Amino acid sequence: MATVTILYASTSGHTEYVTQLLEECWHDEKSLAVRRIRAEVARSDDLLGSDILVLASGTWNAGGQEGHLNLHMHEFLFDRAKNADLQGTMVAIIALGDDRYFYTCRAGEHLRRFVQTHGGEVMEPALLIVNEPYGQEEKIRLWSNKLQKALLAPPSSARLPDESEPRRSALAQPGSAETQ
Ligand SMILES: Cc1cc2nc3c(=O)[nH]c(=O)nc-3n(C[C@H](O)[C@H](O)[C@H](O)COP(=O)(O)O)c2cc1C
Repeated sequence: MATVTILYASTSGHTEYVTQLLEECWHDEKSLAVRRIRAEVARSDDLLGSDILVLASGTWNAGGQEGHLNLHMHEFLFDRAKNADLQGTMVAIIALGDDRYFYTCRAGEHLRRFVQTHGGEVMEPALLIVNEPYGQEEKIRLWSNKLQKALLAPPSSARLPDESEPRRSALAQPGSAETQ
């Protein structure tokens, strides 16, 4: 059985909603075991041991500066999990934000940097949810389908399969590792 850990932080409930939907998408998939953990209660070990780790966070103004991780995710990653060794860990990223901010969805970049500086491999593309997630369920479902396919039939690279051109074309925008 393939395993997924979704580790998330959420202040107003948006990231929680997205990760809840993700879990529901996989609920009936018997070959997948999914667990969802809030950053507040997560331990460093929770980052390890799954076939895919999903890190999800909104973008906040922690410390008075915009474009930061959710405070709970920041505390978890840069305090309790600061010495985590993600070697061999495949990580999918979900970032939320609003387009009225200059650093829209920048939480995704912080998550990416954490993964890469701790030896993990980022699966492309990240899921970016700009503005409220309500009404964006189809986008979330499509992304979850791709992740599931990558999980159950792992491609040779850490790129999620394109629905229209399976396993051939890159989904990420040119010049950016993330798409909206
Ligand atoms: C005080 C505050 C600061 C924010 N700063 C940013 C930001 O810098 N960039 C961004 O894209 N979104 C920013 N947002 C929007 C949130 O990231 C967005 O509402 C997100 O969906 C919240 O997710 P959550 O409820 O799961 O924490 C901010 C929102 C608030 C209330």
